[in-house]
Amino acid sequence: MAKVIAIDGPSGSGKSSTSKRVGKALGFLHVDSGALYRIMTWQCLAQGVDTSNPDAVAAFAARVEIECRPEQGAISFYVNGELPGDRIRTPEINAHASAVATVKAVRDRITAILRGLTQYGDLVVEGRDITTAVFPDTPARFYLTASAEARALRRQKEEVEKGIANQSAEAVKASLLARDAIDSTRKYAPLKKADGALEIDSTTLTLDQVVATVLAALPADWR
Ligand code: DC
Repeated sequence: MAKVIAIDGPSGSGKSSTSKRVGKALGFLHVDSGALYRIMTWQCLAQGVDTSNPDAVAAFAARVEIECRPEQGAISFYVNGELPGDRIRTPEINAHASAVATVKAVRDRITAILRGLTQYGDLVVEGRDITTAVFPDTPARFYLTASAEARALRRQKEEVEKGIANQSAEAVKASLLARDAIDSTRKYAPLKKADGALEIDSTTLTLDQVVATVLAALPADWR
């Protein structure tokens, strides 16, 4: 049976950097589940679907075709034969993704896609409900946190470095807190620390320290 390392946490808590590094260290495929919610949001916006209308989003999301391919240590998600790239990382997608992620039909479809990925091998999966809803039975579950200020600074730096946007740290923090609020209070699979998950506050830790903490907490025969 495939092994799954599940890592949840809010935006900017260090999930992506940590899961990529852990995946590389162990030869587990990295899975960014947020990319699937972003793809659904991107497609809704591209087709003029009102993201505040759950019925319209549910009907549309069932038709979005997503192809999963294991490549270069990760699962890539293709839409109509193309990689979305940074088109799913814009402030506009950020502003709509949490609303799309409240829709149960979207969550059910993405959960099924994520569970199906174990056919490709061992995984390190990051998201908001991986430890609580998608893979709640895996022995390797982590909840990453950091202060809102630290998270906003990380995201802002990333946006500027990638040339995606040039927002102030305050604007990035406001957008991030608005998403946190929706993600952690929604009815289906809200973001929360799962019972038994190891919480790691990365505010004052280096990436190396966070990665080392995760690796040390894994079952001995996984390392
Ligand atoms: O991790 P991210 O910022 O790329 O996630 C984008 C959005 O998708 C975020 O608002 C919450 C949602 N999401 C979710 O509800 N469940 C997941 N497992 C991953 C992301």
